[in-house]
Amino acid sequence: MKILVLGSGAREHAIILSLLSEGVSHEITAAPGNAGIARVVDTVDLDANDPVAVANHAIAAAVDLVVIGPEAPLVAGVADELREQGIPVFGPGRAAAELEGSKTFAKRIMDTAGVPTGRASRAGTLAEAEEALDLFGAPYVVKADGLAAGKGVLVTTDRAAAIDHARTYLEQGSVLVEEFLDGQEVSLFFVSDGHTVVPLSPAQDYKRLADGDAGPNTGGMGAYSPLPWLEETFGSETAFVDEVLTTIAKPVIAQLADEQTPFIGLLYAGLILTSRRDGDSDRGIRVIEFNARFGDPETQVVLPRLTTPLSSLLFAAATGTLGSHELPTFSNDAAVTVVLASENYPGTPLTGRPITGLTAADAVDGVHIAHAATGARAGDLVSTGGRVLSVVALGTTFGEARSRAYDALGQIRLDGAQHRTDIAARVAT
Ligand code: AMP
Ligand code: GLY
Repeated sequence: MKILVLGSGAREHAIILSLLSEGVSHEITAAPGNAGIARVVDTVDLDANDPVAVANHAIAAAVDLVVIGPEAPLVAGVADELREQGIPVFGPGRAAAELEGSKTFAKRIMDTAGVPTGRASRAGTLAEAEEALDLFGAPYVVKADGLAAGKGVLVTTDRAAAIDHARTYLEQGSVLVEEFLDGQEVSLFFVSDGHTVVPLSPAQDYKRLADGDAGPNTGGMGAYSPLPWLEETFGSETAFVDEVLTTIAKPVIAQLADEQTPFIGLLYAGLILTSRRDGDSDRGIRVIEFNARFGDPETQVVLPRLTTPLSSLLFAAATGTLGSHELPTFSNDAAVTVVLASENYPGTPLTGRPITGLTAADAVDGVHIAHAATGARAGDLVSTGGRVLSVVALGTTFGEARSRAYDALGQIRLDGAQHRTDIAARVAT
């Protein structure tokens, strides 16, 4: 298959590595890609957010499938243009991508579809925001309504900080004030062709910058998959996944189809498992957010465990044939990823610094590196953004995968780099 992958992060590198691992010689191109991606496939210098430029390239190159990695091209309508041109594309159109692009839209879909989520109030003015903060009480949760690259959410016990955050994002539109939900977080991905929806295997992301969940929210500092502790509450991973499929994914996909905005692509359910139970059926599973794309860094630990071909799964979703496609299956491997980030991330990152030691890191058993913000400069590899790369390790146990990941990370040198040291520590006994 001729596949064009849009995006330039570790998620896209993970998608490409999964496609390459199928043992079928696909012709893969990435736009724009990064230095790591450029080592394994061709890259093309294309504005991935420009619908016409992407469609023209896909037509000229006779691409069979376009896979859209990040949210920006989705919200820019790249999938709509490709569908218009008859090119199979994995990624929702602009209207369905509002599930990620607008928290208000997502809440409305959830309310209409009867999907369990936290109580929330939309505020257009500071007075409304303050009223909602007092209604729900501390800890306070304030979210920018639109896309904010992982920086739009503030969870704090400091009322003044909550009000400041609301003020900042009110300048760009409205904010959502939510009730605080306490519990383990789970990221669960679903592949949808607009009507049929199938689950992948769950992962847990570490959103905060520092060990012990201290520091600011980030795009994600590490992840692991599967989640062995789901067994305690749900009996098995399958029971948990089935419950989320039935109570969350299917109703949302059906609602979007009913509204003539079918969701074709990756539905990312960000869940909190609250201790609160409002009846036996829901066991306190609440949606905290939807994304309209694969999660980063969760993809780096979910896809290496996929034992069925990714290309045919995504193609079936893109062509409306998921109902007759084999269900995705996963290995029992423990997968751990640790993100290496630049100095000062998630603020303005200090970039352009050399990265060394990757060959030694890659040589550690069970380890590979998914590049994110890497570029080539005079033959050297340099950092070009906030999250620089993901070290990914597989093992037969989490203890093994975790020690492999940190052994490999110890080989890598990047001045001022930051990483968490507690990724998957809770499952690595
Ligand atoms: P989001 O971008 O909506 O996923 O939010 C980022 C992070 O903020 C989540 O992963 C949670 O850790 C936290 N968060 C978001 N909403 C809530 C909530 N209602 N209660 C508690 N924590 C939340
Ligand atoms: N890891 C969180 C996200 O992809 O949004």
